[in-house]
Amino acid sequence: MKKIAVFTSGGDAPGMNACIRAVVRGAIYHQVEIYGIRYGYNGMIKGDIYHMNSHSVSNILQKGGTILKSARSQDFRTKEGRQKAYEQLQKFGIEGLIAIGGDGTFTGANIFYEEYGVPTVGAPGTIDNDLYGTDYTIGFDTAVNTALQAIDKIRDTADSHDRIFFIEVMGRDSGYLAIQSGIGGGAEIVMVPETRTSSADVINILKQGWNRKKTSSIIVVAEGDEEGDALQIADKVKQALNDKDMRVTILGHIQRGGSPTAADRTLASRLGLGALEGLLNGEKNKMAGIINDKLVYTSFKECITLQKPINPDLLRMVEILSV
Ligand code: F6P
Repeated sequence: MKKIAVFTSGGDAPGMNACIRAVVRGAIYHQVEIYGIRYGYNGMIKGDIYHMNSHSVSNILQKGGTILKSARSQDFRTKEGRQKAYEQLQKFGIEGLIAIGGDGTFTGANIFYEEYGVPTVGAPGTIDNDLYGTDYTIGFDTAVNTALQAIDKIRDTADSHDRIFFIEVMGRDSGYLAIQSGIGGGAEIVMVPETRTSSADVINILKQGWNRKKTSSIIVVAEGDEEGDALQIADKVKQALNDKDMRVTILGHIQRGGSPTAADRTLASRLGLGALEGLLNGEKNKMAGIINDKLVYTSFKECITLQKPINPDLLRMVEILSV
């Protein structure tokens, strides 16, 4: 393989730049020509493709976001869109792809491989940490730490005013961000999509806390929780608790930005190089991941269909430590 391209797709994640850098520098080291595709699959369809060299990735290791830009492409979901993307790759003579993104990115890559057979290896980049085939995804550690800083600050004001705070964190279908930031932030309750906590449970736990003379409480809610969003849950709880003083904070996209942590920079560099060397060694239609500190390759199909469960010990811990 002499000419390959790299792109980022879906929600951006801190560490994506470190990953791009590892792919580009790794390709140069292995004497392979490397191209960048801007705006993910949209850029592939439009031919927004440029040649990269070592300087293209200078001074980006520490930066959040993605220098290659990102998008959630509707056009790539269509046969016509994918046909156009394939034609552009042919035009540039690109023989293989490195896709940095999450489940949507790999769903697209999987279909594209089945239709056109372009070898693709993925690097998991999403703050959600919801991909099977790797212990951690690029951006998760930074996002947890961002959420944690916010929770610490909210705790100060919650404590000063004897208030209950509902804090909503990101994670469309996954409670990883919620559970880790909740444990780190000493939350009384963490609500995640993987396990059901009803509003009635929340009310009971809060009442038990007051019986033990607790004056303020933090409840971390994953945005994808089945019981509803943080505002809806807070509403139900407030009604049942005679309008007790409560506030809701939705952390939102603040969790997606910022300079990556040391852990994310190392992970991103390992996964970027791992994806590149996998592709050059003949891996295809697979995602590079790190499990128990070992580089592994898992088929896109497994990564997007199999669930990565939350360790139940973590959920148990929240209950025990909030006594
Ligand atoms: O997949 C990452 C993520 O941040 C999710 O946690 C969140 O639900 C989603 O992206 C938000 O996407 P968008 O920025 O497109 O609204």
